[in-house]
Amino acid sequence: RLSGFTERNGAWYAEDIALADLAKEFGTPLYVYSKKALTEAYQAYDKACIDSKGKRRARVHYAMKANSNLAVINCFKELGAGFDLVSGGELARALAIGADPKSLVFAGVGKSATEIATALKAGVKCINVESIAELHKINRVATELGLRAPISLRVNPDVDAQTHPYISTGLKGNKFGIAYHEVLKTYREASLLSQIDVVGIDCHIGSQITTTAPYLDALDKVLDLVEQLKKEGIVIHHLDLGGGLGIAYSDETPPDITDFTNTLLNRVSERGFGHLDVVLEPGRSLVGNAGVLLTTVEYLKPGAEKNFCIVDAAMTELMRPALYEAHHGIVPVQAKRTKSLTYDIVGPVCESGDWLGRDRSLAVEEGDLLAILSAGAYGFVMASNYNTRPKPAEIMVDGKNAYVIRARESTQDLFASESILPK
Ligand code: LLP
Repeated sequence: RLSGFTERNGAWYAEDIALADLAKEFGTPLYVYSKKALTEAYQAYDKACIDSKGKRRARVHYAMKANSNLAVINCFKELGAGFDLVSGGELARALAIGADPKSLVFAGVGKSATEIATALKAGVKCINVESIAELHKINRVATELGLRAPISLRVNPDVDAQTHPYISTGLKGNKFGIAYHEVLKTYREASLLSQIDVVGIDCHIGSQITTTAPYLDALDKVLDLVEQLKKEGIVIHHLDLGGGLGIAYSDETPPDITDFTNTLLNRVSERGFGHLDVVLEPGRSLVGNAGVLLTTVEYLKPGAEKNFCIVDAAMTELMRPALYEAHHGIVPVQAKRTKSLTYDIVGPVCESGDWLGRDRSLAVEEGDLLAILSAGAYGFVMASNYNTRPKPAEIMVDGKNAYVIRARESTQDLFASESILPK
């Protein structure tokens, strides 16, 4: 499952480079990505969007929130991906690598007028609208600019994605999307606005989803709307089903990608909508298992109730355990013959929630390196500078070569733009 990362004679490698060598050269904590792993994950997804006769049935728009490093998104651009964006910042990243604006969809519940204007001027494929108020704001901004605004309404289909509540987005209690019973009305309203072009419909029900059933439920509900809209003369050109396909962090078994896309795309054609352009927005499933976080053991601290393995990475580098109690595999980079003990792996940050793994059996000594696995998605992008901790460097390995794709922050960087009051 970690295709670019392998263990050989007790030592872990990223492609052809020992992780220990990367740690020695670049220091820790350190994010390491494998270009091969990113590429394979993308190609598998993209291939699953093409039928046996070579006809494309869907298009991949990588959700760059999962990992928006320029080198990562540039790899995907070169493989032919479009992008799903959620902020002006992500739009700027996409434009910085020369992505075709027509390959960009812009989502998010709280787009500002400035972000909307920038997206319209850039000429994005579509703005995914999440509220009636936003629809009117887009029309206003487009009027001021004398531009047309291609839009899609994000439907909240009210289905349970059966994932962690913090990453479930398609229930009526969630802030996302337009309530199911208001969607038709909102499309009618949209079709009357002077600068709005209705082009699509979209939904996204959550993340780290490991079964296809909730997707089918959402799809059926969305297609019911498309059917109704057609009767009313409102034409939908594309259907965006969002992202959310889970990965194996430990013993999860997400659906096979081809089975997954076939199930959804067959349903689209069975219901007579095979002519629609289908967009998929995977994030985690393209990058999650293509990255690890390397960390050094600072101290071992045995205790009456718990043994702590204190490392130099923390919730500041990888927030997922603290935020969602998420599980990430943790392995010694170089196998040791020391005795295994059960440890909580924790960071130096002043929070009891600052842990990376709990009750893990590890054979480690002070100074050893650990690799925190499946850290390629929602890892670095969610990092913070809490406790004035500089963000780690990011490395991409391609075969025998390692490239610094983001330099380690210096402590000076962290307060360079601060100033004290004049005397
Ligand atoms: N499209 C939309 C509209 C989204 O909101 C998201 C993720 C995606 C696509 C991509 O979903 P993915 O394929 O990566 O599951 N920080 C959390 C995940 C938050 C996901 C937010 N939206 C985590 O670390 O698990």
